[in-house]
Amino acid sequence: MMEALSARGLWVSRGGNGGAASKAVLKNVNLSVRRGHLHMLLGRNGSGKSTFMETVAGLLPYQNGELEIEVSPTRMVSQNPDHSIILPTVGAEVAFGLWDQALDPDDVRERVRRALSQVNLGGLSEKAIGTLSGGQKQRLALAGALVESPKLLLLDEITSFLDAENQFGVLRTVKALIDGDPTGDLSALWVTHRSEELQYASSASLMENGEIVGVAQSQAEMDSLVRQFEEICEGQRRLMTP
Ligand SMILES: Nc1ncnc2c1ncn2[C@@H]1O[C@H](COP(=O)(O)OP(=O)(O)O)[C@@H](O)[C@H]1O
Ligand SMILES: [Mg+2]
Repeated sequence: MMEALSARGLWVSRGGNGGAASKAVLKNVNLSVRRGHLHMLLGRNGSGKSTFMETVAGLLPYQNGELEIEVSPTRMVSQNPDHSIILPTVGAEVAFGLWDQALDPDDVRERVRRALSQVNLGGLSEKAIGTLSGGQKQRLALAGALVESPKLLLLDEITSFLDAENQFGVLRTVKALIDGDPTGDLSALWVTHRSEELQYASSASLMENGEIVGVAQSQAEMDSLVRQFEEICEGQRRLMTP
């Protein structure tokens, strides 16, 4: 199997407790992430990207279609690190992901050390989380996922609160992790509304109004996907201006 994740004809409704008031948010979504790929899901706010992520993560049920996750484990990182970080120091926060694995303390320390160095936070294990910058916190959240040796990372707009320097720093970190993975099996689904990030993607999908409206299988196809996205945004702006 070449794919890490594959959704075919996926339909997801939300709201109204599943009754008449619930509405279809994802409509016939086809999306695949190949092993070893950094796949980006691009779309405007409200287009359904997080709904897709939550469905893949098993947090939302789907009503129709097929969803196959061929690798495990899967770990998700979301937009706001303050919502997921719970412990006072960097090292403790990363180690928390291992608490139920009955590892010996030396093993835990070694895995935490490795995860922190993978995200360029090496040596900061004792640091208080309150003293970290936004970019460092998002790297920490990423280390918290990496310590569990995931095969598929689900990254939902993890750069949206970062300035350009940290935005690309975090993005390059993820890209380097995937390209440098010795098994070649690590994949990521990277959700974004910032089309400039697609220059780092190995493939991408464009979502609008709960549907996949475009796909790029290579960097060569990325420009036209970005143009398509910009046209959608421009069309929306015209609708909004009186
Ligand atoms: N908890 C929820 N209950 C009902 N509808 C929701 C909920 N969360 C999101 N939606 C709706 O689903 C649609 C897609 O939202 P979302 O998946 O968050 O988009 P995106 O992540 O692309 O901004 C929106 O119309 C939004 O109003
Ligand atoms: Mg979202």
